Amino acid sequence: MPHLLSLIREDVAMVMDHDPAAKSRLEVLLCYSGLHAVWLYRINHWFWNHGLFLLGRWLSQVGRFLTGIEIHPGAKIGRRLFIDHGMAVVIGETSIVGDDVTLYQGVTLGGTGKEHGKRHPTIEDGVVVGGGAKILGNITVGKNCRVGAGSVVLRNVPENSTVVGVPGHIIFREGKRVVITDPKQINDPLSEALTAVAIEVDKLRERIHRLEGSESEGEPLTVSLQQIMEDLDYQI
Ligand SMILES: CC(C)(COP(=O)(O)OP(=O)(O)OC[C@H]1O[C@@H](n2cnc3c(N)ncnc32)[C@H](O)[C@@H]1OP(=O)(O)O)[C@@H](O)C(=O)NCCC(=O)NCCS
Repeated sequence: MPHLLSLIREDVAMVMDHDPAAKSRLEVLLCYSGLHAVWLYRINHWFWNHGLFLLGRWLSQVGRFLTGIEIHPGAKIGRRLFIDHGMAVVIGETSIVGDDVTLYQGVTLGGTGKEHGKRHPTIEDGVVVGGGAKILGNITVGKNCRVGAGSVVLRNVPENSTVVGVPGHIIFREGKRVVITDPKQINDPLSEALTAVAIEVDKLRERIHRLEGSESEGEPLTVSLQQIMEDLDYQI
């Protein structure tokens, strides 16, 4: 219990430091349901670790009813987790969450439904996960990463990266912009369709060029299409 109280104290201090909306310690203590969910989880996790699985599970559902946040008691969560706003956050049984992580409302640390055993993500220290983001499967999001609101992350993310989109792809790494030149890196069915269309356009242009004779230059490409064709050059 004294340990829990010291954890509560540092959680409140962390929110006071990081959330400009927090006006007083009493307000944080009373009004931050994300913290209430984490404190309940600490108790449920103790039950879980001491073999009281049903009690831990049942109390986690009580916590869900009260806060709108579902944290499985088997999850391993580090210190100072801040769940801001909170509603509809789900943290699965085999998730591991490091220290100083921030999750916004609607975040899921879930399974893909295809894996057994360790099937939920590992979120390392200092990660910020934007509202509504889904991180699925036994993958690792490295230290200090930022996951954009609404992203769906299905692959490991190296430290100090920013990932956005569906499916998630890295846009910043170690502070530098990542330019994707291979559309397949986005791993998106739409980018595959784009690749196929670009290859077809290239073949047709070559054919027209041949039919019209070698002196014909043909219509110039628009700047954006030119960029796409250059990015795809290696595949064509
Ligand atoms: C991902 C995020 C951290 C990036 O912030 P940033 O480093 O300042 O990056 P920028 O805003 O300069 O965006 C960089 C690029 O990513 C795109 N982008 C940013 N966030 C995105 C998102 N969530 N989904 C898809 N694309 C996104 C931008 O459009 C921009 O693209 P462009 O360069 O082609 O124009 C931020 O946009 C985000 O989503 N934060 C979560 C905030 C949140 O959930 N708040 C909840 C409060 S209740």
